[in-house]
Amino acid sequence: MSALSQMRGNDMDWAALIRSELDGMVPYSPGLRATEVRERSGKDVILKLSSNEHPCGPFPSALRAMNAVLPRMNRYPDGGSRALRRELCGRLGIDDQNLVVGNGSNELLRLIGQAVLTPGDEVVFAWPSFVVYPMVAQMFGATAVRVPLAEGDVHDLDAMLDAITDRTKIVFLCNPNNPTGSIYGRDDFAKFLERVPGHVLVVVDEAYFEFVTDPDYPNGLDAFDGVRPVCVLRTFSKIYSLAGLRIGYGIVPERLRRAMDKIREPFNVNTVAQVGAYYSLMDEAEVERRRRENQEQKTYIYSTFDRLGITYVPSEANFVYFKTDKPVEVFEALLMEGVIARDFGTAPALRLGIGTPEDTVITIAALERVAEKLGGI
Ligand SMILES: Cc1ncc(COP(=O)(O)O)c(C=O)c1O
Repeated sequence: MSALSQMRGNDMDWAALIRSELDGMVPYSPGLRATEVRERSGKDVILKLSSNEHPCGPFPSALRAMNAVLPRMNRYPDGGSRALRRELCGRLGIDDQNLVVGNGSNELLRLIGQAVLTPGDEVVFAWPSFVVYPMVAQMFGATAVRVPLAEGDVHDLDAMLDAITDRTKIVFLCNPNNPTGSIYGRDDFAKFLERVPGHVLVVVDEAYFEFVTDPDYPNGLDAFDGVRPVCVLRTFSKIYSLAGLRIGYGIVPERLRRAMDKIREPFNVNTVAQVGAYYSLMDEAEVERRRRENQEQKTYIYSTFDRLGITYVPSEANFVYFKTDKPVEVFEALLMEGVIARDFGTAPALRLGIGTPEDTVITIAALERVAEKLGGI
């Protein structure tokens, strides 16, 4: 029998082939798409408020620059994202050796895990928080240690410190936290950094940094000195509206950056994304305008929550997290109104992204109708 015909047999032992760490993992679920909901609800206008995207397109100058570069797509991108790195370093006041650009900050989370974790290690993070943290732990055979949020749905930094052991390699801090939108303040962060053991890498995920208005918000970069094992991750997916292009960046100690450079794909960030990100940085006025508009929409949504007696967590991000004892029904009823929220299985809460002012009007009307239909949310 030839080698080829032997291979046709159905005798592959897949369990032996595929790493056992992946057995218990569930793929990331991106939620419903607008087209599916349009069919189900019969509504023409569908608001996809489930993925914390910005409701508007990319900045006009970024769009122009991205269009201009499309005819050059026969070439690989700059594997070092050099122009963008230079620009970011100048703006952030950091050394080039400390900056890494990724195919979304998601890639950077995974690269950090891949660079650092071995089976048996532990990864500490708050819960609920970004669903990718436990995935990163699990895919490299580490144990995910979830520390429940404290009263008010805020990070319990003391409990997180208590959860650290000799086997802890990474602590993920999500600030503002996804899905609650809550932040921890400057004093709590400073105390945490004083007490965190030196063998632990602290990864501050600031995906929603640009939306924050609370003056007590600690900029993770202030804790970065290039020596301390602290990383800060940010993204162009949110306020800059480049989610579809996948681009984020990390400020990391040089030793870690060198390790990440070894394992990232040679051309991990595409040219259009690099150009779009570069030109987005030039338009600070648009960032400010979007931050203000986001803040205004939140106040309208909060007043609706108050009127309807809905408990919510004040948010520093572009989404709001509210409590409901009938999440499945409320999620479904909102869907029939053409509003896609984010659910968390049977957890008694839902998350709603902030849209345009027009979206807010539709969302508020939908919430009111759903509250009436279900006899309260
Ligand atoms: C807290 C947090 N970190 C990271 C990401 C990933 O963002 P990116 O699109 O840059 O991969 C998200 C996306 O929703 C997020 O909420």
